[in-house]
Amino acid sequence: MIGLFDSGVGGLAVLREMRAMLPEADLIYLADQAHAPYGRKTLDEVRARSEEATRRLIERGATTVVIACNTASAAALGRVRASHPGVSFVGMEPAVKPAAAVTKTGRVAVLATPTTFDASVFDELVGRHGAGITVIAHPCPGWAMAVEEGWPVGALAPVRAHLAPLVESGVDTMVIACTHYSFLGDVLAEACGPAVTVIDPAEAVARQVTRLADGSGSGATTYLTTGDPETFAGQVLRLLGEHVVAERIL
Ligand code: DGL
Repeated sequence: MIGLFDSGVGGLAVLREMRAMLPEADLIYLADQAHAPYGRKTLDEVRARSEEATRRLIERGATTVVIACNTASAAALGRVRASHPGVSFVGMEPAVKPAAAVTKTGRVAVLATPTTFDASVFDELVGRHGAGITVIAHPCPGWAMAVEEGWPVGALAPVRAHLAPLVESGVDTMVIACTHYSFLGDVLAEACGPAVTVIDPAEAVARQVTRLADGSGSGATTYLTTGDPETFAGQVLRLLGEHVVAERIL
């Protein structure tokens, strides 16, 4: 069984890719919606929530855990890996390396939550892969909760306004480094225009899971939330087009 968690619906973008690549796998998705957004919490708070989510997924039978959340991966991946040596973990990290390979102007922006930039991972990645280019950390506060509540409907104008200074300064590559923003992929492309490449790592992360995890099973997906299960089922319908029954865990 493969478990995934996020603060909410963002990780569904990774789940969608995994489902396409591993149609027979049994998946269990935990949305920690009672504690969202992670992107405004301290690193220690996100670590504590990540430990708890991991524990709940393992308790339900997960042998691989996908941290389908950049904020939680940046804060806690090393820690949960160390505390659960029998479990395989896959996390997310800002795709600075692929961005460095495609930029022509040498100006790249990473879109993520404020807490993702507080962790050391971002600076380490820029140190490793950002030689000779400018990598701009561009927090997008409020976006994750807006996606929970209904974006991309109505998102174009505020997204365009938030990104316009980057585009005007010559940024030609935008990295999606918060899984919630994957659902804004089309909006980002339209807001930035055709000269800008938008990089979404969701598919690459799912591919990484196929290399590590056992994809056999009955093809079932279980949806858990610490929030309201009916609201979550409605969000899954809106974002993935699937009718599901979600279960509340405390
Ligand atoms: N989806 C999460 C991420 O990838 C965090 C969103 C939030 O809860 O702030 O960073």
